[in-house]
Amino acid sequence: MRRIVGNWKANGSTAQAQALCAALPAPPAGVDVTVCPPLCLLWAARGSLPPGIRLGAQDVSRVDGGAFTGEVTAPMLLDAGCVLALVGHSERRQQGAEDDALIGLKLRACWRHGLLPVLCVGETAAQRRDGSTDAVLAAQVGRVLAGAPPAPLWMAYEPVWAIGTGQAATPEDCARGIAVIRAAVAEAWPAAPPVPCLYGGSVHPANCAAFWREGGADGALVGGASLDAAAFVAICRLAGDA
Ligand code: PGA
Repeated sequence: MRRIVGNWKANGSTAQAQALCAALPAPPAGVDVTVCPPLCLLWAARGSLPPGIRLGAQDVSRVDGGAFTGEVTAPMLLDAGCVLALVGHSERRQQGAEDDALIGLKLRACWRHGLLPVLCVGETAAQRRDGSTDAVLAAQVGRVLAGAPPAPLWMAYEPVWAIGTGQAATPEDCARGIAVIRAAVAEAWPAAPPVPCLYGGSVHPANCAAFWREGGADGALVGGASLDAAAFVAICRLAGDA
């Protein structure tokens, strides 16, 4: 089973969301496809998606409800039709000043309510240059999972320098990052079965297959290319090829 998650980020209007969703066919056999529109477009997308494509959120609150202006909680996301939420995307880490402690609370909020968290981890360009990629990835995973019993989880290896830059990781970079992430999850949860691990960062139809064929990824987290129906459909189709 390969997993493709589209992250629309802060893009789209109601009309654009409806048009994009209506242009997507049902996923090929053996491919799990989820799209993550902006929160205010979840309902527009929900009404226009073909059967078989699921909805996700780009973020989730650490709290369950109450006097928290601006927060959107896991129960609200489930009610809106979401099955998963991205947690710890690097844009939220950097622009929203989210640290691993907050990200850990968000994961636990997902688990309290049965929403699947997709935990994003990745090194910056400077960390890659100074050779600390493996340590950064292991520390991000270890800090967030510390003390948590095994629970449903997908991981996403998203090198920060590859996101939105057009400069994707090589399949070798991907394989190494995913191996480090898998080892860190296994250290936190020694008795648990392996969790799916996606690759994200400048994925497009011409490079995607290498991430699962040679890079060891269980699928892709797709940003920019998920806004282009033809490109996103092509990635989903390629994920279905043996
Ligand atoms: P990108 O974004 O595909 O536009 O590089 C990926 C992501 O941010 O998840």
